[in-house]
Amino acid sequence: MTEQSGQGQTLDNLLTESRTFPPSDEFAQQANAKADLYEQADADREAFWAAQAEQLTWETPWNQVLDWSNAPFAKWFVGGRLNVAYNCVDRHVEAGNGDRVAIHWEGEPGDGRTITYADLLREVSKTANALASLGMRTGDRVAIYMPMLPEAIFAMLACARLGLTHSVVFGGFSAEALRSRIDDAQAKLVITADGQYRRGKPAPLKAAVDEAVAKTPSIEHVLVVRRTDTDVEWTEGRDVWWHDTVDGQSDQHTPEAFDSEHPLYILYTSGTTGKPKGILHTSGGYLTQTAYTHRNVFDLKPESDVYWCTADIGWVTGHSYIVYGPLANGATQVVYEGTPNTPHEGRHWEIVQKYGVTIYYTAPTLIRTFMKWGKEIPAKYDLSTLRVLGSVGEPINPEAWIWYRETIGAARTPVVDTWWQTETGAIMISPLPGVTPAKPGSAQRALPGISAKVVDDQGNEVAAGGGGYLVLDKPWPSMLRGIWGDEERYRDTYWSRFADQGFYFAGDGAKYDLDGDVWLLGRVDDVMNVSGHRISTTEVESALVSHPTVAEAAVVGASDATTGQGIVAFVILRGGVAEDEAKGANAIKALRDHVAKEIGPIAKPRQIMVVPELPKTRSGKIMRRLLRDVAENREIGDVTTLADSSVMELISTGLKDTG
Ligand code: WT7
Repeated sequence: MTEQSGQGQTLDNLLTESRTFPPSDEFAQQANAKADLYEQADADREAFWAAQAEQLTWETPWNQVLDWSNAPFAKWFVGGRLNVAYNCVDRHVEAGNGDRVAIHWEGEPGDGRTITYADLLREVSKTANALASLGMRTGDRVAIYMPMLPEAIFAMLACARLGLTHSVVFGGFSAEALRSRIDDAQAKLVITADGQYRRGKPAPLKAAVDEAVAKTPSIEHVLVVRRTDTDVEWTEGRDVWWHDTVDGQSDQHTPEAFDSEHPLYILYTSGTTGKPKGILHTSGGYLTQTAYTHRNVFDLKPESDVYWCTADIGWVTGHSYIVYGPLANGATQVVYEGTPNTPHEGRHWEIVQKYGVTIYYTAPTLIRTFMKWGKEIPAKYDLSTLRVLGSVGEPINPEAWIWYRETIGAARTPVVDTWWQTETGAIMISPLPGVTPAKPGSAQRALPGISAKVVDDQGNEVAAGGGGYLVLDKPWPSMLRGIWGDEERYRDTYWSRFADQGFYFAGDGAKYDLDGDVWLLGRVDDVMNVSGHRISTTEVESALVSHPTVAEAAVVGASDATTGQGIVAFVILRGGVAEDEAKGANAIKALRDHVAKEIGPIAKPRQIMVVPELPKTRSGKIMRRLLRDVAENREIGDVTTLADSSVMELISTGLKDTG
């Protein structure tokens, strides 16, 4: 299985790690979460979650905590009604905290905006009135394809306020990726911007929307924020400017309560086939768990902390830990528009110093990039306000963990390694910063109220020291409620692997150490993790074969020191394409660009190798394991199940020829 996950070497390093870092007494004493949280949750799980849900404001109380009678479709806080946006905005103003800063927004070129909770209420109300004026009604889907602007957050909250279901599409995705997501959700409106700042330069964004929307009949309007003053094409009647449509609206809007299970959003994520899955999240349970985890895992003190999550709202981390969790908790946070090295490699630390950031949440790939840039860079800034550091997206190697704690956290701050997924909606496995003696590289233990196990092929829990598959054996409030429009795929993907036991199969390999702590080992399916982003091998393969020169393609994720995994593609060319020509740098570049155009730049292969054959089993399945051996420069493993055992030799010789 470690072979399958392609992270065998990391695994060995992980499991020799034995250092632990207990919380300081000082931190433990002031922490929100104490050790008894586990006992409370174990004593009565549903009562525990009910207590967490009571931290929110409900218009109508629920009459049942959990209805699992129609598993795997959960209902949490049944009969309860609430408005998610009211919980994230209005109630903080009503509680007298309208002057508290909600968002310190920092633009890439250095411009900024300070948005208090009272400002946020006015902006979200105006946006809600504008969306209603565009004909959007409860239940309609709205696509949001935007850079990290405050308007993106206003738009998400305005949707929540009106009971519209948003589908945020990462601004780095292609027109084609946007089109297929709009189509799948049958969205009626797209909210976008004229352009976005990327590495110091404005880049067009609306052009991709125009291209997508030309083929999506469900779209009635395109609402456009002016950000970069980039020239845009305009379709009268369909396209409307944000400043014309939103700015003049009333800043008063009365929120309506919706059922706890009302759809809040769809977020597409890669699966093992070429077609992304629309993960569906609903309202009451989702908000309960995002708020609970944000409060306890990051030890949030809303009156004094300045929190910063560096994710993009295009990913689930941005949904749960920029928008819903932090705002439900009344946090003050930094939202940064740009890239970490624009205009210089100290940008993040400059921002930490400028706003006095106390909690910083990022991804291992970025931590490893900071390591490469050197510790002299953060050393130039005052980072003494930091008190909790978080990591998410992929296993964090102990070396990066230690560097993070020592260099950024002055060897003082707790580091929380948080395991979760788009599907889980919120953090599931993580240390609690005032409770858990931390182990570099391990996410350690399911949070209070959550239950996870490592099981073998048969679904039996493995013993301490053993490895297998990670499963979630009890429903949790922020769990996905399905895949949009595809009940069967939902059952198949997550619930069929351990159907007898009724376990949710996460798709990750994992291991217990001798203390029973969980170590995540990477995906066991054909899903790659590149810089913390999920990309399926099949998705990249179909993009490659849609290019006229490619006959067949096989894609693997190979270990990469910075990005976790890198995409390596093996392609067979169509007859008639001269080999020399096709192996040339231009041809390879054309293929890489083609993948970027089809999916987005994040899916560009790191390396493309032209080969005469692909290794396949007798039943025709590509043996990615062997290709991974090639991509990672390892000796090639067992070839006995290949239909033609000489293929690997052909591939290796061919590659030596091309250098
Ligand atoms: C996959 C989920 C959760 C938000 C970002 C990614 C991997 C995530 C960790 C971690 C080891 C991790 C898993 C998981 N993953 N966090 N702390 N340690 N692996 O969300 O795109 O849905 O990807 O990311 O493989 O299944 P996602």
